[in-house]
Amino acid sequence: MTIDYSERIPNNVNLSEDRRLQRALEAWQPRFTNWWDEMGPAGFQSSEVYLRTAVDVGQEGWAHFDHVRMPEYRWGVFLSPPEPDRRIGFGDQKGQPVWQEVPGEFRTDLRRLIVVQGDTEPASVEQQRLLGKTAPSLYDLRNLFQVNVEEGRHLWAMVYLLHRYFGRDGREEADAMLERHSGDADSPRILGAFNEATPDWLSFYMFTYFTDRDGKYQLGALRESAFDPLSRTCDFMLKEEAYHMFVGASGVGRVAQRSAQLMVEHDTSDVAPYGGINLDTLQRYINFHFAVSLDLFGSERSINAANYYAAGLKGRFDETSFDDDHVLLDREAEYQSLGSDGRFVTERLPARGLVNQELRTDYVEDCQKGVRRWNRILNGQGVELQFTLPHIGFNRAVGTYAAHRLTPGGAVITEADWQASRDSWLPNEADRAHVLSLMGPHHEPGLIANWIAPPAQGINTKPIDYDYVRL
Ligand SMILES: [Fe+2]
Ligand SMILES: [Fe+2]
Repeated sequence: MTIDYSERIPNNVNLSEDRRLQRALEAWQPRFTNWWDEMGPAGFQSSEVYLRTAVDVGQEGWAHFDHVRMPEYRWGVFLSPPEPDRRIGFGDQKGQPVWQEVPGEFRTDLRRLIVVQGDTEPASVEQQRLLGKTAPSLYDLRNLFQVNVEEGRHLWAMVYLLHRYFGRDGREEADAMLERHSGDADSPRILGAFNEATPDWLSFYMFTYFTDRDGKYQLGALRESAFDPLSRTCDFMLKEEAYHMFVGASGVGRVAQRSAQLMVEHDTSDVAPYGGINLDTLQRYINFHFAVSLDLFGSERSINAANYYAAGLKGRFDETSFDDDHVLLDREAEYQSLGSDGRFVTERLPARGLVNQELRTDYVEDCQKGVRRWNRILNGQGVELQFTLPHIGFNRAVGTYAAHRLTPGGAVITEADWQASRDSWLPNEADRAHVLSLMGPHHEPGLIANWIAPPAQGINTKPIDYDYVRL
């Protein structure tokens, strides 16, 4: 499964054997390049960045590191190796051989799933395009660009599937990926979190922790798909995605560490005058990013999700780890909703209708791990305060909680009470202004901003003060 880099579009899918497909993708390629020039990282297109590039899709040694200019990054199409005799792992057709082509009856649903996933990839690049100008270090600048080029590659991954398996509609959808833009009033990205601004580096770390982690769960559910090319595509994307979440987890951790150091050094909880970020500000950023990321899981009760599960299109995260029949036809699961009277109702409902809720529950547990790690960092510095995840009903725009106002603790409150307390729960104007005031360029090897601790180690055994980006 070594990747062929002699082609215009590097790939491990024998693209040169399908001339029509190759020509179609080669026609899309300059559109992608134009989009990257216009909407990709602003101001660093001629810088040499120490990037990893996939050279193989095997377990070991798939990444090659070198200084490259981002527009010369070799975006391509890489699928994980096929699993011999792979069978459908869940739903009505469990046990049947997986599909190598798209069954007619599921064509629309599969195309929709691929388009929604694909749309998020360029969206995050657009959201992050100005951050390079205020990087807290060259190490962080390089990490931002690594995430950006790989999100670009994830777009390629989805565009390949659209071109290869969905004919003319697929080609039109591939073009539309470059026509919608994050936050655009007329033509926004499909999902809400991908139209939010990422105006500062704290937001970037929170985004890569919470929102890229939604990506992990969506890709994990699609990796179970009966449509084998989609499964193999998502499997390889997940390898790249792991690093994005590391950037977020370690980034937030380093900010927390620096805040705690300043608190102890100056014996105060208000470290803003010393150029740090207060823990209550960090908590408000956590609240915001957690809530908008939960919305990405859709309604906890969903007919679409039930249909996708029945058809074998989208499973649960790590489907084999569930101790049940993987058909869920006569199973029930617990569902908690919030009635119009503001009371919580718990009932047992058919499990298939609740697979979104299941996926989201696993995600919340995963998010909790990082919060615990950040709290250990605080404790290690001698600070007792603890970060927490807000209640899943807090500040939601999708699902059963969307019609209500809940506190971070999960109490249902009136709109007036919400308005009165909103600024203590979500990033307020003063938080955003302070965080923005700390942002500034740190573009020399070894230079690091005052509001964040240095990383524990560099990239690929290089030292922390390595010239990760040559401007
Ligand atoms: Fe991605
Ligand atoms: Fe990502």
